[in-house]
Amino acid sequence: MAIRDILIHPDPRLKAMTDPVSDFDAGLKKLADDMLETMYAAPGIGLAAPQVGILKRLLVMDCIKDDDQAPRPMVLINPSVTWSGEERSTYEEGCLSIPDQYADVERPSEVEVTWQDLDGTTQSERFDGLWATCVQHEIDHLNGKLFIDYLKPLKRQMITRKMQKLKREQARA
Ligand code: NI
Repeated sequence: MAIRDILIHPDPRLKAMTDPVSDFDAGLKKLADDMLETMYAAPGIGLAAPQVGILKRLLVMDCIKDDDQAPRPMVLINPSVTWSGEERSTYEEGCLSIPDQYADVERPSEVEVTWQDLDGTTQSERFDGLWATCVQHEIDHLNGKLFIDYLKPLKRQMITRKMQKLKREQARA
């Protein structure tokens, strides 16, 4: 396994539409393993393939935050939301591609998601709480959408300017 570099906003690859995964091969397993390792090391609770520069419909997540609970690493390939509840909830979201910036985002509290696992087998599950927010945030990444796209333009521009400054500083370092 290897930790991959996480792209920082703004980057055209974070705004791109991704392609469905069709080859369920060893390369895909390696990518998923790398993404999980990268996510845990960050640390984060979710990571989508475009964030490591791969424009494919693949995400990983693990929203277990309690140290007493066993980790639950999940790999979702070609995921889609097949049902959304009417109730909505607000979470303060962040993103590994937008470090140290957080903002409230409102989304459906409960969603049903269908995806394929690493064997290509179709899976389906209903998520709520933090898991529901996380899976919707990560699926957005596969469609070139970031959580700041839900914010008012002024707030979004302020965060983008901070990230441009951060990237300039990183380039000089
Ligand atoms: Ni994100």
